[in-house]
Amino acid sequence: MNILSPSLLSVNFNNIEADAKALDMAGVEWYHLDVMDGNFVPNISFGPPVIECIRKITDRFFDVHLMIEEPIRYVEVFKKVGADMITVHYEACEDLDATLAAIKKQGVKTGLAISPDTPVEAVKDYVDKVDMILVMSVYPGFGGQKFMPLAVERIKTIKKWAVDCNPKLNIQVDGGINLDNVSDVLEAGANVIVAGSAVFGGDIETNVKAFFSKMK
Ligand code: DX5
Ligand code: ZN
Repeated sequence: MNILSPSLLSVNFNNIEADAKALDMAGVEWYHLDVMDGNFVPNISFGPPVIECIRKITDRFFDVHLMIEEPIRYVEVFKKVGADMITVHYEACEDLDATLAAIKKQGVKTGLAISPDTPVEAVKDYVDKVDMILVMSVYPGFGGQKFMPLAVERIKTIKKWAVDCNPKLNIQVDGGINLDNVSDVLEAGANVIVAGSAVFGGDIETNVKAFFSKMK
């Protein structure tokens, strides 16, 4: 099943509720929540209190993308404020196994993200140990960047690994996705599509429906 997970990094922060209503009306099932610490990435976004507020206005699945150093320290608090899935970066965890175990212990889904410069082989051993692998198609830190085509081959490689050992693995792609390149990443094997500027720039419902029509 293909899923669209709009990145709230591009939401109108002056009126999150209106944008959330538009997402829900359009039939969006996942929300992608980008948490940045100004340390792992050169930008600061939002943290648990904002997620807690958004949790009060929608019951959709919260896919929380942690771009923070040593996320193991915050797994419990993100679960508490409403995360349904917690994705951590390969590059940000000193003890990745312990971090994934901490997420599982909270009873939420596990995601593992890989930045563009990390060899894809780094996540091979985790294909059968997590619910989702997130292939970054930009350097993490900012919305509105240009899609890096190298992500396509990386998705194909992960998909190939997953076919045998974890056919249910979700493969997410994040960064610079728009209506012109979404078909390429789906064809490569991604099934969870993150899009920020392409969803929130302009009319949300129109944009979501345009994505859905390409994602059938
Ligand atoms: C980048 C974030 C992305 C990003 C997506 O670090 O993880 O989720 O905001 O935004 P667009 O679709 O505008 O590239
Ligand atoms: Zn993200």
